[in-house]
Amino acid sequence: MQHDQLIDLTRRALKLARDNATDLAPAPHRIDARDYTSVERHSRDRALIQASPQLVGYGSELPGPNAYCVKTVMGRSVLLTRASDGSVRAFDNVCLHRQAQVATGCGVAKRFSCPYHAWTYDNAGRLVGLPGREGFPELHVKSDGLTELPAAEFAGFLWVALDSGATLDVAAHLGPLAEELDSWGIGRWAPLGEKVLDSAINWKLAIDTFAENYHFATVHRQTFATIARSNCTVFDAYGPHHRLIFPLNTILELDNIPEEQWNPFHNMVVIYALFPNIVLSVTIANGELFRVYPGDRPGRSTTVHQNSTTLDLSVESVAAGAQAVFEYAHSTVRDEDYRLAESVQANLESGARDHLLFGRNEPGLQHRHLAWGRALGNASPDAPGL
Ligand code: FES
Ligand SMILES: [Fe+2]
Repeated sequence: MQHDQLIDLTRRALKLARDNATDLAPAPHRIDARDYTSVERHSRDRALIQASPQLVGYGSELPGPNAYCVKTVMGRSVLLTRASDGSVRAFDNVCLHRQAQVATGCGVAKRFSCPYHAWTYDNAGRLVGLPGREGFPELHVKSDGLTELPAAEFAGFLWVALDSGATLDVAAHLGPLAEELDSWGIGRWAPLGEKVLDSAINWKLAIDTFAENYHFATVHRQTFATIARSNCTVFDAYGPHHRLIFPLNTILELDNIPEEQWNPFHNMVVIYALFPNIVLSVTIANGELFRVYPGDRPGRSTTVHQNSTTLDLSVESVAAGAQAVFEYAHSTVRDEDYRLAESVQANLESGARDHLLFGRNEPGLQHRHLAWGRALGNASPDAPGL
């Protein structure tokens, strides 16, 4: 992000903090409880994610030629490879024989030998080794191979389309946010691995927990609220995506510092909601990524939490410190946000009350649900301006 833009956002955040205010949506918004519980909505949500460009990780997870990594995307195992020429490809990680996963984890390899009967594939997905070939006369080495999925490295991140016949146009998907995301360099920072949360909450309820900081003073009283302000957010929409700025408590000190000396990153966290199922959180030293997927029924979801850092992880003590920060953020989400959300999901499923309210002070939440609704063809007339 340009320095001028960061300073401008800092000014807006400082004004809100000074006024004890937050950006407001034009009106409160009502959501049907069944959005989180209905099987019909759930299958439409899954189809929406299936049809949307999927950010699956940082470019730095494929650090050089012949690097590979395996990602699970809404239950589907995807093998990503980087060819010698630097290009990124993706394949269904499903053996042509009896569907074993041909690769696991991440590393460097030009070939993948299936652990079941040793059929072997190169990193362009081609079948290059077929022991017991006489058993499979219809298959041809070099011309048969893994199913390829459209893949791209864009704005520093790895992207795939889950439909092998789709066109993957990430530039069109991100619009004006592409340049801004790229400018952070998050996708080029050192990756710290993945932590997975399988939760008894609808995937949208999981994402809702990242869409406002109204809950900080209560849910995160002992954790995030000790450093960040509550109910104080700068909100900007970019088509179906949005950006939130969460000011830190220290921002008020800027009143006594000339603007030329401001270091915006010491005073705020930037949160991006990327349509439809991605949350990015950027701080001075971390690029956190939450990939949230619907589970096998409305009340189940999987969150893959990743983190990348500007720190030099080759120094052992630095790496240990970065992992501790990652673990702290992860346990806060797991033990504070998602634990509370599980009780919300139980109430929603009980049928006790048929709707939820999103306040004017929760514009990010309203925007997320309106963007999903619009994509599903349920445009809502009662929230103009978002
Ligand atoms: S399932 Fe892969 S070789 Fe048999
Ligand atoms: Fe939270």
